[in-house]
Amino acid sequence: MTYAIAEREAPPARDGRIRIHAPEDFAGMRAAGRLAASCLDMIADHVAPGVSTAALDDLIREFVLDHGALSATIGYRGYRHASCISVNHVICHGIPSDKTLKNGDILNIDVTVIVDGWHGDTSRMFFAGDPKVKARRLVEKTYESMMAGIAAVKPGATLRDVGAAIQHIAESAGFSVVRDFCGHGLGRVFHDAPNVVHYGSYRDRFVGLQQAPAIELKPGMFFTIEPMINDGKPDIRMLRDGWTAVTRDKSLSAQFEHSVGVTEDGCEIFTRSPAGRNAPPYV
Ligand code: MF3
Ligand code: CO
Ligand code: CO
Repeated sequence: MTYAIAEREAPPARDGRIRIHAPEDFAGMRAAGRLAASCLDMIADHVAPGVSTAALDDLIREFVLDHGALSATIGYRGYRHASCISVNHVICHGIPSDKTLKNGDILNIDVTVIVDGWHGDTSRMFFAGDPKVKARRLVEKTYESMMAGIAAVKPGATLRDVGAAIQHIAESAGFSVVRDFCGHGLGRVFHDAPNVVHYGSYRDRFVGLQQAPAIELKPGMFFTIEPMINDGKPDIRMLRDGWTAVTRDKSLSAQFEHSVGVTEDGCEIFTRSPAGRNAPPYV
C-alpha cells in the first residue's frame, strides 16, 4: 500500500499515534492470521501453468467465505477481488484476470481476511512450473529479507532497524528495495499507522534518499512487514487501472508479507503457515 493511502486510511489513529493492543487482542490476530495463512497453503496446490489468476482468486474467495470469514479487499476502495496476484514484473496489487500463468512465472498472492473483526494480511511467492535460477534467487532473498526484518522486531528497537535489516539482505544480493509502498499497522483496521518502510540504511541519506523514521517499537503494536524487492531498479510505474504497480525497467519483482505483533521480548508472527509452506517450493 502507499503512504498516501495509509494517511487517508487510518481513522482511529489520524493523529499518527500507533495503537497499543491489549494482551487479549493477540488471540484475535492469531485466528485471523492463521486463516489467511491456511488460505495460501490451500492455493499452493493450484498454482500451475495454464491456470488463470481469476480462477485462483475464485478459489480464495470461496475458501474465505466457507470458513466464515470476510475478504477485506472486496469492496476496499472499489477493489473487487479476494486477492491481489502480481506476476513477474508486477510489484503489487495485480488484479486477478483471465490471463493464464506460463511455465517459469513467479507470482505473489496476497490475501487479507477479517475474522471476528481482526485482519490477517499475508502474501507469499509461488512458482508456475520451473522458474529460472535468477528468479528463484530473487524469491529466496526476498523471503530472507522479510524474515531478517521480523527478527529485528522487539521492544526498544525501531522500525528503521527493521528496514535496515531488510535492505541489507536485498542490496547485498544485488537487488533493490521498492520505496513507494510499505507495510502498515493493522488490527481492527486494515491499514493503520505506522507506515512500515522496508529500508533504513544510514548510508542512504548521504546519497539524498529519504531516511526511515526511527519509530520505537512497543509491546502490543501490530503491523505487517511486506518487502517488495526488484531484480533491477527500485522505480515503479502505475498502470492505468489505478491498482497495478510494475517495475519501470520491467525487471522481476518479489514480495512476502507477514502480520506480526510486538511482544515483551520480540514478536509473534500471526500468519505463519500451519502447513510449513512459508516459502516455495511447496512440496
Ligand atoms: N493486502 C494488501 C496489503 O498488503 C492490500 C491490498 S488492497 C487491495 O496491504 F485493494 F488492493 F486489495
Ligand atoms: Co499489507
Ligand atoms: Co497484503
